[in-house]
Amino acid sequence: DDESEATLRTPIVAVLGHVDHGKTSLLDEIRGSAVTEGESGAITQHIGATAVPLDVISEIAGELVDPTDFDLPGLLFIDTPGHHSFSTLRSRGGALADIAILVVDVNDGFQPQTLEAVDILARTQTPFIVAANKIDTVPGWNPNDHAPTQQTIDAQTDRVERDLNENLYELIGDLSDNDFSADMYWRVQDFQNNIGVVPVSAETGEGIPDLLTVMMGLSQRYMKEEMAVDVNGPAAGTVLEVTDTQGFGTTVDAIIYDGTIRADDEIVVGGVEGPIVTEVRALLRPRPLEEIRTEGQFEQVDAVAAADGIKIAAPDLDDAMAGAPIRVVGDRDVDDVIEEVQAE
Ligand code: GTP
Ligand code: MG
Repeated sequence: DDESEATLRTPIVAVLGHVDHGKTSLLDEIRGSAVTEGESGAITQHIGATAVPLDVISEIAGELVDPTDFDLPGLLFIDTPGHHSFSTLRSRGGALADIAILVVDVNDGFQPQTLEAVDILARTQTPFIVAANKIDTVPGWNPNDHAPTQQTIDAQTDRVERDLNENLYELIGDLSDNDFSADMYWRVQDFQNNIGVVPVSAETGEGIPDLLTVMMGLSQRYMKEEMAVDVNGPAAGTVLEVTDTQGFGTTVDAIIYDGTIRADDEIVVGGVEGPIVTEVRALLRPRPLEEIRTEGQFEQVDAVAAADGIKIAAPDLDDAMAGAPIRVVGDRDVDDVIEEVQAE
């Protein structure tokens, strides 16, 4: 029956925030925890995207996540740069995202690119939570590696807890100044109308169990219908970057958010001079660090299903545009697909 055809894809999570507030460190910490849990093979490190499967999330989150409560396959995180000059990359990440994490240094508070990120999320109506990062830098902090938030806050002195709360309430005030009603995540009932703030440390891993739990819960609760896709259908995606790849010429790094792309598919890609019709020559996935020396930088794969990041090699990609759509033609009329790409 039809019911069994629909598959739930991985929600795409954009990680946004001001420069140096800890976006990459947060993803590194999540990857590192997975390695510690003996799950390094389960983590796929793609083009600016990190896929974390549900069983790994549940291992990191410990008692906070019961995997049988969820039927989404995990989360696909997209890192974005915080430097002011990369605003197009941030918009692209924000537009692509189903949900987002806004990372804010808890001592530094709202900064110019925090505001910019909030504007992008408001414009694209992307639900988000705030990771109040670097809680370990509150003076006098007593670190409890990888502990859930409540547990580590209970282990702080009254003075440290008061200082942390002061910073957190300042953050909540900044959000409210930008017309977002926000509160500590454990007080939020309705995540559609209130922003949950999760205190974390990318350095010690404190609060990461909570962060993953909240993201998983938010996706499951509010995104499930949107995640139901026909993964076997022709792929749809977005170009993140146009790059030169040794041995393959001009390639595009893309996020696939619907369907499947195969290594010999005909595709249409948005270009400077209009849509480019070409044929996939290779789908390339970066190898784990330890394999690069012996096997080369990339592994060729036969097919990639949503949601995932992948480097696509194909002729005639020189004019491809970052931010442009990619469509697999499949058994459709190529002119219809060209029109679809033009319309986007
Ligand atoms: P851009 O990509 O340049 O926008 O920065 P980013 O947001 O990715 O920040 P990044 O993860 O590179 O971290 C910036 C600096 O902050 C690094 O030196 C990190 O080690 C440090 N840092 C990040 N998170 C934490 C944290 O939770 N605690 C402490 N003490 N340091 C942190
Ligand atoms: Mg970074």
